[in-house]
Amino acid sequence: MTEKQHDKVIILDFGSQVTQLIARRVREAGVYCELLPFSTPLADIKARAPKAIILSGGPASVTEENSPRIPAGLLEMGLPVLGICYGLQAMCAALGGKVEGSDKNEHGREFGRAKIELNDSPLFSGVAKKEVWMSHGDSVTRLPEGFTAIAHTNTCPFAAVADEARKFYGVQFHPEVVHTPDGARMLKNFLLDIAGCRADWTMAAFRDESIAKIRAQVGKGRVICGVSGGVDSTVVAALLHEAIGNRLTCIFVDTGLMRHNEATEVVGLFRDHFNIPLIHEDAGALFLERLAGVDDPEKKRKIIGKAFIDVFTAAQGKAGEAEFLAQGTLYPDVIESVSPHGGPAVTIKSHHNVGGMPKDVKFKIVEPLRMLFKDEVRALGRELGIPEKFIGRHPFPGPGLAIRIPGAVTADKVSILQKADAIFIEELHKNDLYNATWQAFAVLLPVKTVGVMGDGRTYDHVLALRAVTSVDGMTADFAALPHDFLGRVAVRIVNEVRGINRVVYDITSKPPGTIEWE
Ligand code: XMP
Repeated sequence: MTEKQHDKVIILDFGSQVTQLIARRVREAGVYCELLPFSTPLADIKARAPKAIILSGGPASVTEENSPRIPAGLLEMGLPVLGICYGLQAMCAALGGKVEGSDKNEHGREFGRAKIELNDSPLFSGVAKKEVWMSHGDSVTRLPEGFTAIAHTNTCPFAAVADEARKFYGVQFHPEVVHTPDGARMLKNFLLDIAGCRADWTMAAFRDESIAKIRAQVGKGRVICGVSGGVDSTVVAALLHEAIGNRLTCIFVDTGLMRHNEATEVVGLFRDHFNIPLIHEDAGALFLERLAGVDDPEKKRKIIGKAFIDVFTAAQGKAGEAEFLAQGTLYPDVIESVSPHGGPAVTIKSHHNVGGMPKDVKFKIVEPLRMLFKDEVRALGRELGIPEKFIGRHPFPGPGLAIRIPGAVTADKVSILQKADAIFIEELHKNDLYNATWQAFAVLLPVKTVGVMGDGRTYDHVLALRAVTSVDGMTADFAALPHDFLGRVAVRIVNEVRGINRVVYDITSKPPGTIEWE
């Protein structure tokens, strides 16, 4: 089992927005880690046999009575501990130190970049850049017994503290964010030198272990895997194929609503490149038929979701008897989130993707990526020999181009949009801008405007270009693409794509906009 072979670090989440970043940094250092809510019972933590504990930051104040606490007994396990921001404060409070709000202590709040003075400590070995990112209201004002300050800033005398005998460390700043340039080094020092973890978490190792695990789970059984051309389902399929060969059958529901040439590329990748058994359900006509005349965005999404399930279910018959269904669930979907405010979020859009199918009791589920972050899935994909084109491709929504055609969807509109979108993407690649954007695409508007081409009047569609920068799609900024670049793309689109005579650029961030238009 993967988890047993690697040294493991437990990160206790106190609700910071960047806790997942800590986990990613730890894994980048080659150490396997898992994220658990701060409220996890001590017995569960012990059962996982961690080598070290990291306490995350969080929005609460330890000066408040009901704020999150470190599980009783955790600090008596004899393990190295690193507290970050709130984690440092919670540790100091638990061990008899004092934490005060900014109104009660002379040092006060500190947000943003800060210069730091470092003492000699194993935590800082090899650290050259004396700059850190601060974001705190409360401060530690008295250290627990056994602790000394190992770093300070102008305003924070306890910017980093340690009880080196017990291997307890705490930093008031955030080593996990890029604004602490040597933060990754500090985390690595803690993990490898202080806690003595082995740096053996690599995607090459994961691949081998995961193949063994899949074989143990599936035995002689057969597996069905839905693929979309997206990186997650492609990696799941390639991994399963290595594990069980032709006892895997992939089903590709081709909605006809994919990007230019994409369906052909997906079929080529599976059949020619990997030689994986693939059922290609060319269902474009069915999707268009069911979408005919429908212009409400939520109705469109629901229709597509339903059609997808219908086609997929019908295709299962062709795959032979299978007991297992593979899914591309990733770690961020699995992590139990610590929401400081609680309560369910409002549904902005009903999402649809291959993993979003209703639970089918007929199948046992295989989820080989459920402990991986997206960047790890990409690394694993490279390890499995998936071409870069598929690995580095921008995200694409399950409902496809239908939600990039506000109003009713027709075959003509899909074809116009595919051509325009392909030009935009081609130009982004040519100008080295593709990877500078998180997602970029075209939207065909249901608005016609007057133009002039040659000596004639035109009356055609407006096309909107959308390009954003983002980390996870939850928030986004419009990408500040150069004006001359946008100008060249607009000229090409109007010249080459019949049906479009005007191009506009969307400069809305998320929030208040969403990335997609529907
Ligand atoms: P929004 O438009 O909500 O999109 O800002 C955020 C990210 O999610 C993608 N998206 C989807 N992905 N099924 C998916 O698999 C969907 O139904 C869906 N809707 C939006 C969108 O492309 C962006 O990357």
